[in-house]
Amino acid sequence: MKVLVTGGAGYIGSTICSALMDNGHTPIILDSLVTGRREFTRDRIFYHADIGDTTAVERVFAEHPDISATIHCAALIVVPESVAMPYEYYKENVVKSLELFHTLRRLGHGNVVFSSSAAMYGMVPGFMVTEDSPLVPNSPYSRTKYMMEMVLQDFCAAYGMHGIALRYFNPIGADPRMRSGIHVKEPTHIVGKLVETAQGRQAEFLITGADWSTRDGTGIRDYIHVWDLARAHVQAVEQFDQVFQRAGNPADNYVVINLGTGRGVTVREMVAAFEKVYGQALPKRETQPRPGDVAGAYANADRARALLGWQAELPIEQGIADALRWGEVRNSILKFD
Ligand SMILES: NC(=O)c1ccc[n+]([C@@H]2O[C@H](COP(=O)([O-])OP(=O)(O)OC[C@H]3O[C@@H](n4cnc5c(N)ncnc54)[C@H](O)[C@@H]3O)[C@@H](O)[C@H]2O)c1
Repeated sequence: MKVLVTGGAGYIGSTICSALMDNGHTPIILDSLVTGRREFTRDRIFYHADIGDTTAVERVFAEHPDISATIHCAALIVVPESVAMPYEYYKENVVKSLELFHTLRRLGHGNVVFSSSAAMYGMVPGFMVTEDSPLVPNSPYSRTKYMMEMVLQDFCAAYGMHGIALRYFNPIGADPRMRSGIHVKEPTHIVGKLVETAQGRQAEFLITGADWSTRDGTGIRDYIHVWDLARAHVQAVEQFDQVFQRAGNPADNYVVINLGTGRGVTVREMVAAFEKVYGQALPKRETQPRPGDVAGAYANADRARALLGWQAELPIEQGIADALRWGEVRNSILKFD
């Protein structure tokens, strides 16, 4: 099966491409490399183009008319940057995605799997969110994801397209075969920062916020191994029609699915797990929450099991071990200036 993967040169998109290939499929990558890495496209079919470039998208489908679905990962993803640069985020993530969906519809390739985010959930008592929990996107970034879910839903209802929005929780780790992993120089996510601290590139790990109403006062998240996340996409494209059947063929041809483990892990628990895997305590300190921080959420993962026949399998310890291994091999795979 051929699958178009926009953003296939990025962290998650490249891992999805690896999982597709390991399952006998052919990913076709469309990526502008605005943040992604050319190294991740090596030996893969790659179109170096922007999702907003209609001619390029048309060329992809002219040369691969047998593409059966599009996994749309391409986006800008840094929350503080989105606060500082809302124009760029709405243009890249909303305006260009709108054009991409329009082109897909025009070309008659209306099966879409959309990379959405659990960042749009509001706080709920107990911290577990279902797909029907209230959405309170609180940054320009999460609003772009929220908007594109609405656009996709409306396109599916009006134009007979079919859309699956996958709301990712907190991806960690790297491809277990080390073909790709986190590529940014200065990671903003917790495991990346723990690796930076362990490898001496950061003096200490900051626990930002220890006064939340969670079991130990620190923020709670649902850390999902990026390989589990990638496998869910393979299931989504392989079982695309069945997903809608199992969902009772919704009139709007649109389905939302949480991708998480179903288990909440606090920052302190994550740090303890990291130290155990690493075999050494890290220098760490508690500080105030950063602006915009929230206590957090974890997934109710029932729908993913019911509709995709998928559940997360890899423990956070493997995510940590793979992130550490990736931290060691990364500079031999990626060339930084
Ligand atoms: N990483 C996370 O924690 C997380 C959590 C939830 C959802 N997501 C979503 O997953 C998707 C992938 O995220 P990631 O972590 O792999 O980020 P990433 O930055 O590693 O990958 C994004 C890729 O998209 C490409 N891209 C961006 N704009 C483009 C454009 N206009 N045209 C063509 N290519 C373009 C970039 O070059 C990059 O390769 C995003 O849609 C993101 O919103 C990520």
